[in-house]
Amino acid sequence: MSDQIIPLPATAEAAAPVPVTNPNTRKVFIKTYGCQMNVYDSVRMGDALASEGYVTTEAMEEADLVLLNTCHIREKAAEKVYSALGRLREMKKERAANGREMMIGVAGCVAQAEGEEILRRAPAVDVVIGPQTYHRLPQALQRARRGERVIETDYAVEDKFEHLPKTEKAVIRSRGVTSFLTVQEGCDKFCTFCVVPYTRGSEVSRPLAQILEEAQRLVDAGVREITLLGQNVNAWHGEGPKGDAWGLGDLLYRLSEIPGLARLRYTTSHPRDMDDRLIEAHRDLRTLMPYLHLPVQAGSDRVLKAMNRRHTAEEYVRLIERIRSVRPDIALSGDFIVGFPGETEAEFEDTLRLVERVRYAQAFSFKYSTRPGTPGAELGSQVAEEVKAERLERLQALLLKQQQEFAEGCVGKVIDILLEKPGRNAGQLIGRSPWLQSVNVDAKSSQIGDIISVRIIGTGPNSLFAERIER
Ligand code: SAH
Ligand code: SF4
Ligand code: F3S
Repeated sequence: MSDQIIPLPATAEAAAPVPVTNPNTRKVFIKTYGCQMNVYDSVRMGDALASEGYVTTEAMEEADLVLLNTCHIREKAAEKVYSALGRLREMKKERAANGREMMIGVAGCVAQAEGEEILRRAPAVDVVIGPQTYHRLPQALQRARRGERVIETDYAVEDKFEHLPKTEKAVIRSRGVTSFLTVQEGCDKFCTFCVVPYTRGSEVSRPLAQILEEAQRLVDAGVREITLLGQNVNAWHGEGPKGDAWGLGDLLYRLSEIPGLARLRYTTSHPRDMDDRLIEAHRDLRTLMPYLHLPVQAGSDRVLKAMNRRHTAEEYVRLIERIRSVRPDIALSGDFIVGFPGETEAEFEDTLRLVERVRYAQAFSFKYSTRPGTPGAELGSQVAEEVKAERLERLQALLLKQQQEFAEGCVGKVIDILLEKPGRNAGQLIGRSPWLQSVNVDAKSSQIGDIISVRIIGTGPNSLFAERIER
């Protein structure tokens, strides 16, 4: 997961008729920062608000409620929220001068981490609501309308998913043919750099029946590809139908049985939780796409230990080899942090060496950002900013080279793509390769949601070009 959100497919052409909206309907604009789970949560907040008569809008100017779904992972991400709130405060003032209400809500991980501080620093904010409590958004807004400045960040005892309204089928359809589905939340790993265990709470898995019901609902509405989400998705565990203990591998086998569900993905995984059953799922399931985001963060054993990752570089490389031996076409993706406190030049070079050995198709890399409250913040020997910047540049150059090599290696291959949205020119569609690349193709007789065979004929900066073939 990263600062950049993997874009959700734009509204499909084959979308359901747009529901007729009453001009008096209230409108909400939701701005999402952070990871895919925030993207999913924003969608579900939209559901919670729909039951209160809100419709979502893409235009902030026309919104009666502006909701920022925030990220706390790095300092920059958190600071972005305060600058956005500064701008919103001006907008709210202008609105008030014209006699029109505008409410401002802050949700997500900054809300959870900073609660009261947000109300103090940003006087225009009406509601602060955490990632585990957003099912209470309608009540929070009612309280705010009565003049209260609301803060709802206690970890709820009830399960938010049980309290969220089910998404309407027409709404699902309007969101496209791929969907996220959260199966696990929170984290008990406590990597020493990371805020997630504090902002998302301890690890919780959603029950099997709830997941199957949501997946079926998505598929019934036309979704062809589901990406299971979790901060530690491969730590998912549940009870199987016979009362047996299930892991993510078992869940994937079960989901593969849903007719019409063509593709499955999952993210983000921890190397420690890649168990045999999950690796078998990669061997056996054609629905499970050959793509794995498996962050390693660093290549030096000393740094890995200081990060509390609880595995060595060699163990990681061996794990990748095992996965590749059962699924040779799997594409690897990762996350990296440079400049963790005390990281020496030689230790950084261990990261470069590990990247050389693994060969990534895709990766996200960051300068270490000190997060208050995490053990990393207490360590001395913080690495100088310019050293971090220089290391990041070298690492990113190597990762980019690997990414380009991977894309170029696709040229000439015949692959299946899932058509997701219209392309730039008439008759052109954009599909998704098994390895998560965007693929442009002329496919006049096909529709969004179809899976078609294409031959890759070229590469662009962020996408591939293909020609349709019949087979
Ligand atoms: N659960 C996932 C990652 C969650 S956060 C995992 O275990 O890998 C997404 C990514 O942000 C992390 O993989 C890490 O590379 C990066 N990240 C987290 N905390 C950070 C920090 N303090 N500074 C810089 N990058 C950080
Ligand atoms: Fe953060 Fe580590 Fe948990 Fe990932 S595994 S969310 S990096 S603490
Ligand atoms: Fe950011 Fe929270 Fe996701 S801190 S990366 S939005 S879990």
